[in-house]
Amino acid sequence: MNLVAYLLSVVLLAVSQAFPDRRDPAELIKSQGRIVGGFPVDIKDIPYQVSVVKYGSHTCGGALISSRWVLTAGHCASSSNTPLLGLRVGSTDRNSGGQLLKLKRVVQHPNYNPTIIDYDFALLELQEDVTFNERVGMVSLPEQDEVVEDGAQCRVSGWGSTQNSQESSRYLRAADVPSVNQETCQAAYTYFGEITARMICAGYKQGGKDACQGDSGGPLVSDQKLVGIVSWGFGCARAGYPGVYARVASVRQWVTEVSGI
Ligand code: ARG
Repeated sequence: MNLVAYLLSVVLLAVSQAFPDRRDPAELIKSQGRIVGGFPVDIKDIPYQVSVVKYGSHTCGGALISSRWVLTAGHCASSSNTPLLGLRVGSTDRNSGGQLLKLKRVVQHPNYNPTIIDYDFALLELQEDVTFNERVGMVSLPEQDEVVEDGAQCRVSGWGSTQNSQESSRYLRAADVPSVNQETCQAAYTYFGEITARMICAGYKQGGKDACQGDSGGPLVSDQKLVGIVSWGFGCARAGYPGVYARVASVRQWVTEVSGI
């Protein structure tokens, strides 16, 4: 290993220890830096997936819920960001293709609490309706308080950040993960914080498949409904620590109040 690579791995290790959301180098290699343990997908298979762009580059995922509105994570967007944010829709490649769209309005959930990452939702209103085609479409929402059965198969998708100079994160990936019982998830995160009613967890006991850094705001879909928004987790794909998502069914009425959807 040359000196640069060595220093890089020391820095990565230090960073991974300082920030629970960063992965350690072994996981970086295993995960190839994107959605962990997933597979490549074409945007035609997930046409509601969008990239939230800031200063021209991918910063978060999001999901089209109509031709005018995107649901993303609260931590991806505050209303003061409106002029800085845009969207890329209809492209598997996060850097080019599809259409770049401008936003009219960003509405962060009024109860969004960055300390405990509660109510991690924001609605993005487009300046103009987007035209649906085979690469651009919307996803349905669950009813208010609609239950997700424990162990339900869910699909999470996104571009993530690689945190690895050897790997490109240009192309969309997805992973299939089962939803986790709320009490089981709360028990797993006892020392990290509360799993509130606005959160839903998904992942395997043994880890291996998960969302990761840069997937935030992106969709978790089960039974063709948007049940979760990528929010947080301890590391990525670690055994015993499922991914934590913002639970869409908990704010379904708020979505209607803001967007009319
Ligand atoms: N907070 C991260 C982001 O901003 C998402 C982390 C998701 N982590 C996980 N283990 N599922 O991209």
